[in-house]
Amino acid sequence: MSVKRFGVSLEEELLESLDNLVIDHHFPNRSQAIRFLIKKNVVESKWKEDMEVAGALVLIYDHHKRDIQKQMTSLQHDYHCLILSSQHIHLDHDMCLETITVKGKAGKLVKLADKLKAIKGIRHGELVMSGTK
Ligand code: NI
Repeated sequence: MSVKRFGVSLEEELLESLDNLVIDHHFPNRSQAIRFLIKKNVVESKWKEDMEVAGALVLIYDHHKRDIQKQMTSLQHDYHCLILSSQHIHLDHDMCLETITVKGKAGKLVKLADKLKAIKGIRHGELVMSGTK
């Protein structure tokens, strides 16, 4: 793929934000950071269009919370068509980390993630999605 060059004019504050992004993500240069932002934006618009995407949902919770595992299993069975795999790790005596690999229409994945994150006792939940093409 050929690479095209173009000039970018930015306010000082925005340029500073861009440079912080370069540092935070360990990008080799500003071009890489801009590429990242554009691709991120494209993927996010695809979500809105409800395109086919793949991703992972990470959930952290205390397994002692009443009915939490029962609710999580039941919800995952309701959405079994979207779930490719799940992995459960016992972090310590109380806490568990579950990674659920998902694929399907972005809107449906967000819905599943929101429902799982809403279960009482879930400490943290994060869905990461990416276009498949
Ligand atoms: Ni566990």
